Amino acid sequence: MRIILAKNSGFCFGVRRAVEMAEQCAAECGTVYTYGNIIHNESVVQELAEKGVHSVETLESLHAGDTLIVRAHGAPPAVYEACTDREIRLIDATCPYVKRIHRIVEKAAEDGNTVLIAGKANHPEVVGIRGWAGGSAFVLESAADVAELPKIAKAVLVAQTTLPEDTLRAIIHAIETRKDSPCVLQVCNTICDTTRDRQSEAEEISRRSTRMLVLGSKSSANTQKLVEICKKHCKNTENIDSTDKLLLDKLPSDDIIGIVAGASTPDRMIREVLQVMSEQEKTTIETIEAEAPAEEVVVPQATQVTEEVVAAVEAPKPTVKVKEELDSDHEDSSDFASAFEKTMTRLHNGQVLEGTVISVVDGEVFVNVGYKSDGVIPVGELSSDSDVKAEDLFKEGDTIEVEVTKVNDGDGNVLLSRKNVESKKLWDELLSQENIEEKIFDAVGKEVVKGGLIADISGIRAFVPASQVSTKYIENLNEFVGKPMKLKVLEVDRQRKRIVASQKQVLIAEAAAEKHAKWEQIVVGSKVNGIVRRIADFGAFVDIGGIDGLVHVTDAAWGRVKHPSDVFAIGQEIEVLILNVDVEKERVSLGYKQLQPKPWMLAGEKYAVGSIVEGKVVRIVPFGAFVALESTIDGLIHISQVSVHRIAKVEDELKVGDVVRCKVLEVSPEAKRISLSRKEALLEEDPALAEQLAAEKAERDRQYAERQEQRQQQRDTQQSQQVQQSSQPRTDRPERAPRAASSDRSSSRDSGDRRRRNNEDGDYELPPVQEAKTSLASLFEGLKVDE
Ligand code: F3S
Repeated sequence: MRIILAKNSGFCFGVRRAVEMAEQCAAECGTVYTYGNIIHNESVVQELAEKGVHSVETLESLHAGDTLIVRAHGAPPAVYEACTDREIRLIDATCPYVKRIHRIVEKAAEDGNTVLIAGKANHPEVVGIRGWAGGSAFVLESAADVAELPKIAKAVLVAQTTLPEDTLRAIIHAIETRKDSPCVLQVCNTICDTTRDRQSEAEEISRRSTRMLVLGSKSSANTQKLVEICKKHCKNTENIDSTDKLLLDKLPSDDIIGIVAGASTPDRMIREVLQVMSEQEKTTIETIEAEAPAEEVVVPQATQVTEEVVAAVEAPKPTVKVKEELDSDHEDSSDFASAFEKTMTRLHNGQVLEGTVISVVDGEVFVNVGYKSDGVIPVGELSSDSDVKAEDLFKEGDTIEVEVTKVNDGDGNVLLSRKNVESKKLWDELLSQENIEEKIFDAVGKEVVKGGLIADISGIRAFVPASQVSTKYIENLNEFVGKPMKLKVLEVDRQRKRIVASQKQVLIAEAAAEKHAKWEQIVVGSKVNGIVRRIADFGAFVDIGGIDGLVHVTDAAWGRVKHPSDVFAIGQEIEVLILNVDVEKERVSLGYKQLQPKPWMLAGEKYAVGSIVEGKVVRIVPFGAFVALESTIDGLIHISQVSVHRIAKVEDELKVGDVVRCKVLEVSPEAKRISLSRKEALLEEDPALAEQLAAEKAERDRQYAERQEQRQQQRDTQQSQQVQQSSQPRTDRPERAPRAASSDRSSSRDSGDRRRRNNEDGDYELPPVQEAKTSLASLFEGLKVDE
């Protein structure tokens, strides 16, 4: 079995739009009402009722605050007025194509034309149109009704959107051939393309099929018209309004089944029919879609709408021209179409033309482009700026330049794009500019493609290679889709209209400019806050707002710093002083210690004279030991102050690393000098020892005084003896006695001195303690001295 499925099937644009509006409204409000059934399909009406969408035939049952939806067929103005009077909220879901007819007849009536409506008098759409015509309209259901018309001076003829085309032809022919035919007749072929396409498709498919299934309600006029058409070419035509009624048992397997559906038939029903057929046959069904309608179609000029229609009404010539053409062919009314074709223009994809905004509905703009169908600019085709709202850009009557993107989208709509026109203009502007490679454009990431990203520069697609998206590697380019970008054009292929762009170059340039600005802000002598980022042996690198400066180890602290890590930690926030800037080499010298108080300035307060302090021996020299009181302040213990005992060298008592307690003897911040005494601290902190040492000293002093006295006595005795000897005559003395005596004296004096030195060990008169010099200590090194 083969199935040929019509391409144009299921809800038409207007019906789908109305149903969706009703569903959305019901979801928001709970219960809403439609003015008559929103669609000629019982099952859909039932489904909608379950969702809260109920049908009313009059407004009597509604109350203030209720919501009424005008269905795709439209309604006369009286309904709108009644809703306003009774404070009923009205949602207008009239199909834009029907709305266009309302405007045509309203204007035509205002201009004194008699409005002729070709269609069923009791069809809701015709009732609505008649209302907008202001009561002067005549409805022509068939060519026979033309005879009933009164004499008319000028008339505008419109058609019900679902009217069969041949009915319209017959009516026009009847008017043209009337004796008292209007001198001016403007024909507006308002038959909806959707209807026309479905009917022509039904005809084509029914010719090729052995059996035709027309899906749709028996109450739907357009479905019944499809049935009628199909029956002409395929005797075996059925109208299926429910899948339950689908029986295929008697069908031979080599059947070709054609399926068409009315504009009010939901897609769901088409799918169900296909499924049922598949199950019943238990075979795979080959589904062949009918050929798509030709993209390029001919357009009768007489269908130009509203303003242009009115212009034509006022000017009799075009009408006469049409009339003449019709007259020449009137013998065969089936040649009506060919008569129109002589006045046709062509519309094709990519064509740029001007149109007039008819309405703005739900972000979509309906535009009269002088075609039998109005054009629609979908939301996404309005502007390259997705934030732009159609309502803010356009209002009814605006002239707009658009590009045809699809002559027929399957529902009979002409799809238009304003964005493409903008884009083309931008291209022209772009190409007319000089040095566009030096300019930066705002863009939006659109989609990821092989090797990079497509970005939109005001409607122009630009390729951004993956390596040019950012300054760092990007694992997933999707993160740029929908995001704003700044692009620099790298390459323009003017002939193929292609752009290769880079965001990386922009980022690099921005970073450089930012850096330059930062360097400009760095002023020597100013204080800035920074964060320690890295520590090296020679200093610490500090981030001062995108620029790393160096605090050299010598500028880290006032005292000695072995390693910068003794002062800084990574991540530490510090305040630094700009010491020097070298913009060319991009180097900044920073000072940290310069902003810290100088330790020696506080030393006078911290280390008061007489106080006991503690420190670590850091260096030993011949004349004493240096003790670190803090990292930047050392005090000196003179060798004489190292111990309570006299010592030959400092190392006898102390070694580097010893922690000692000392008494502060003197502080000189200016000279950066603190004198310390360990001895004094020992004595102060150990009174017993001090007492013992004092007693020992007193004993030594007493012994010393005794010895001094004895010596004085000896010296006195010797002197008296010498006086006696000198008073004796020289002759009594032996010859060489004087020399000997002298020698003896000398010898005796020498030996006495030697004896005194040898016998009086420990009696050396050492200099006072406070006058001891390190050089002396080194002289006495190794000598045992008895205290
Ligand atoms: Fe509108 Fe045409 Fe459908 S006029 S309601 S789109 S058949």
